[in-house]
Amino acid sequence: MTNPSLPENAMEAGPDLSVSLAGLQLKNPVMPASGTFGYGEEYSPYMDLGRLGAVVTKGLSLRPKAGNRTPRIAETHGGMLNAIGLQNVGLEAFCQEKMPFLRQIATPVIVNFFGNSQEEYVEVARQIDQIDGVAAAELNISCPNVKHGGIVFGTDPAAAAAVVGGVREVLNKPLIVKLTPNVTDITVIARAVEDAGADAICCINTLTGMAVDIHSRRPQLANGTGGLSGPAVKPIALRMVYQVARAVKLPVIGVGGIVTAEDALEFLIAGASAVQVGTANFLDPAAMIAIIDGLDRFCRQEQIAKLADLIGTLRC
Ligand SMILES: Cc1cc2nc3c(=O)[nH]c(=O)nc-3n(C[C@H](O)[C@H](O)[C@H](O)COP(=O)(O)O)c2cc1C
Repeated sequence: MTNPSLPENAMEAGPDLSVSLAGLQLKNPVMPASGTFGYGEEYSPYMDLGRLGAVVTKGLSLRPKAGNRTPRIAETHGGMLNAIGLQNVGLEAFCQEKMPFLRQIATPVIVNFFGNSQEEYVEVARQIDQIDGVAAAELNISCPNVKHGGIVFGTDPAAAAAVVGGVREVLNKPLIVKLTPNVTDITVIARAVEDAGADAICCINTLTGMAVDIHSRRPQLANGTGGLSGPAVKPIALRMVYQVARAVKLPVIGVGGIVTAEDALEFLIAGASAVQVGTANFLDPAAMIAIIDGLDRFCRQEQIAKLADLIGTLRC
């Protein structure tokens, strides 16, 4: 990766970590994964949120949602299972209580959202489009933990295209579509949402899994099953990002098991234009800052003036 033609003083100002994504200019490619970072403010004691490439909110719905019964989290080797069930404050409270804080931070705000029906998805998108200070919307068609909406739309290419098409009609802001790994061929869904008007693809959401309490002989999660995340899923996420990046022209956001700067670099090299960090935030609230610093260090060591030049450079 060493660039012998680089002028000697090119690295003095530090490497350029910026990336562009669906019309957004990000100061670096690192952002939280939805649902693991609250609405941003919760993490402000641990870091300067302005250092992040973007902030991504918990998934929002038209009305507040209480989520599933507890227990809804279980630890696994190298990861965790969750069946939160998309608990959130709802759009109205988000606008009144969360946006005033988010408007002050010096980084783009991406709002993750979902609906229980095609109509509701479109209505939520219509309202998000009107929110001042929201840079982009991330459409979740991939939650495995709710009975209606979510994954129902994400596993069928026609249903995925219909919901993306409907949302596209009312949303002028950049549209990121988040895909589920719980399909046979993720590239089929990726192509369908590209054709329907998505501006970027985010992959992956969690993998459906299960854990059993051997004493009660019941599932450890009240929901029965849950979504697996964390380092255990990284090789699968990386493989899917690689496949999707080759299958579509859209930029891809890689997510799944990223803990270190080296993990993030693997995703960038495999074709991701940006990365999201989820479960790692629970282990170390400042994990993303360490990842950003690690990217900077790597570029200096490898004499890479512009991190974006690494994207999709995998040699096969
Ligand atoms: C507790 C928890 C809550 C989540 N909530 C959401 C959500 O509201 N919307 C969404 O699109 N993804 C949600 N996810 C999925 C994450 O954004 C991410 O795609 C997944 O956890 C894989 O990344 P990781 O291995 O870095 O955690 C959630 C994940 C966890 C662990």
